[in-house]
Amino acid sequence: MAKKIKRLLVIGLGLIGGSLAKAAKDRNLYDQIIGSSRDYKTLDEAIKTGIIDKAVQDIEDIATEMGDGDLVVIAVPTLAIPAIISQLQPLLSELVTITDVASVKGSVVEAVNEVYRCSPSQFVPGHPIAGSEKSGIGAVDAFLFENHQVILTPSSATGCDHIDRVKKLWIGVGASVSEMKVVDHDEILAATSHLPHILAYALVDMLSSMRKNQEVFRYAAGGFGDFTRIAASDPVMWHDIVMANKKAITSALGDLTKHIDFIKQAISLGDSEYLLDVFAHARETRNHFDQMRENKTYLKPIAQTVDYRVSPGGCIKGKVVVPGDKSISHRAIILGSIANGVTNISGFLEGEDSLATLQAFRDMGVVIKRPAKGCVEVHGVGLNGLQAPSGPLYLGNSGTSMRLLSGLLAAQSFDVVLTGDESLSKRPMERVVSPLRKMGAVIAMNKNGLPPLKIKGGVDLKAIDYKLPMASAQVKSCILLAGLYAKGQTSTIESVATRDHTERMLAGFGYHVDRKEFSASLRGKGELKSTIVNVPADISSAAFYMVAASIAPGSDVILPHVGVNPTRIGVINILQMMGADIRLSNKKEVSGEPVADIQVRYAPLHGIEIPVDQVALAIDEFPVLFVAAACATGKTILRGALELRVKESDRIQSMADGLTVLGIDVTTTPDGIEIEGGSILGGEIDSKDDHRIAMAFSIAALRAKEIILIHNCNNVATSFPGFVEQANKSGLSISEEKR
Ligand code: S3P
Repeated sequence: MAKKIKRLLVIGLGLIGGSLAKAAKDRNLYDQIIGSSRDYKTLDEAIKTGIIDKAVQDIEDIATEMGDGDLVVIAVPTLAIPAIISQLQPLLSELVTITDVASVKGSVVEAVNEVYRCSPSQFVPGHPIAGSEKSGIGAVDAFLFENHQVILTPSSATGCDHIDRVKKLWIGVGASVSEMKVVDHDEILAATSHLPHILAYALVDMLSSMRKNQEVFRYAAGGFGDFTRIAASDPVMWHDIVMANKKAITSALGDLTKHIDFIKQAISLGDSEYLLDVFAHARETRNHFDQMRENKTYLKPIAQTVDYRVSPGGCIKGKVVVPGDKSISHRAIILGSIANGVTNISGFLEGEDSLATLQAFRDMGVVIKRPAKGCVEVHGVGLNGLQAPSGPLYLGNSGTSMRLLSGLLAAQSFDVVLTGDESLSKRPMERVVSPLRKMGAVIAMNKNGLPPLKIKGGVDLKAIDYKLPMASAQVKSCILLAGLYAKGQTSTIESVATRDHTERMLAGFGYHVDRKEFSASLRGKGELKSTIVNVPADISSAAFYMVAASIAPGSDVILPHVGVNPTRIGVINILQMMGADIRLSNKKEVSGEPVADIQVRYAPLHGIEIPVDQVALAIDEFPVLFVAAACATGKTILRGALELRVKESDRIQSMADGLTVLGIDVTTTPDGIEIEGGSILGGEIDSKDDHRIAMAFSIAALRAKEIILIHNCNNVATSFPGFVEQANKSGLSISEEKR
């Protein structure tokens, strides 16, 4: 028996139908591509230009011949679809898959169901979000769907084989496919596509009827062009779309009219605050939309690789205000988002890492205004108010975002995927996935226990008592966040105290946490109440200046309003043990966190054996503490710091490599390092894309004999935006080199 040929019939060869036929033909997705159009000129053109293999003017000529595995795509204007369906229904075998490309799904599905008197399993409603203001066969573009989305809105009656067949076609022409309910589709598209088209048509129409329309159009500049490009779209097509999606469009138009009335009123009353708020928030949303679309981090990535060339010598003087605490900034966004009411944050760290968390919550539907000058306004949606993001949540370089969010997201009603950059994709996630699975979470990661994390929604979590196998505040926080959703009491038990910002901040949001020396317990399903969070300056960033002032003769620096939470002050304790001159003043508590001004003056340092109980309290500060050790007399020994090997880089190895280049004698051990203080030469160092390694070696230059060139410093922006500018003002001499 001859092998059955696989056929694709495209009815309607306009821009979408023609482009799909051509894209499928160019990529050999079917044995035969048949085009149908009422217009013989179009068919002629389609054959001549190689868009289709075969032309039929009447679909009856081909429909009866089609069978299992074949696919019919209806690509005619929305209001013409019912007639085509009525024509096809008596002719087509139920084994043939039918799909459409209309921008409105409700009216199409209704028409199909009426003709079939049921919801036929062979019909898969579809909508490619692609197009152009150009129309007709002349505009056909075989790449039109590449990197575009296609939404399918199947019902429970739609056959899986049919859905798969349609998916294969779209993926085959370069698109990505997602599924949605019909009503959701029509509402979303009314707001994001249909409404803008109506506005563009309305504005051009209004301007064209103005008395001075010639002048208006002559002087219309870029804004007019950008805003009204889509008013050149096919009027019949848009008439059909608007008529087919009446209900959702009139409701969106109603909301917009109210909004415009408020703006009009604010303009006439001179209400600048209102106007600025609307414009600024719209701008943020627009920027966020671009980032979401391009899977980018919040800040514009620097196009080139940045190296630091740091001149030797110098000292640090004056007052240095370092940016907000990274750990606390993450937590303020997370808890603010799931609280009820508006949380105002000040001192927020506008670095890549905490902005990755901010962006993730915007992706999940939380309105977050600004950030500007450290101020952020989070419009909390309550414990159960997060919405499914439209794609994977991209968390850049931020381990804290991924680990904390995994706990929170394991308890949502929707599925979510967490991804990150190259460094984050190499960081262990088993440590959070394993306890979350014990709570009943369904999470997949790659086979080596690395990201991406694929988290299944709709799971009821069970409370657990979890003894942490390693000292990790991220793991502890992850479990406590999951515990907010679990029935009963969730407890974490540590053998070494780690940073307790989550516990403190939960209390600030009115959520009771029962705390003993090494344990934290909370009962799930309560309520977080919005609050005010003042984020202190980050002791991890201040640490660079503490070491800088300690090693550079003549230094005297004041670091105001630094967080001095007892679980974070290992760096102060260790430096003081080494002989540093560090004084704390102006101690107080803000938003549940102790803060103080820290003054550091130069003092000769000596090597020490770092007490193991200080390791967790200084975990992020070791890179710069190793620089202090290199400048101290005698040997400094660190043990019990295995965790340093799984940070943004293997920090024991990265620092050992760099210090060796600079002429310092080091010996690494599996969980630590021994550093013999000596003279620092100059040389070329690789930061291994690790922000803290890059900054630590910048500080080392204060005592170097020659220039230190540090490669790959882009990630400094994750925790310390503006580091170079500020360091240079305070006494360092760093020039950025881009390659
Ligand atoms: C952090 C905890 C620490 C720390 C990280 C921030 C947090 O990580 O190194 O920079 O905000 O909870 P671990 O939990 O892996 O120790």
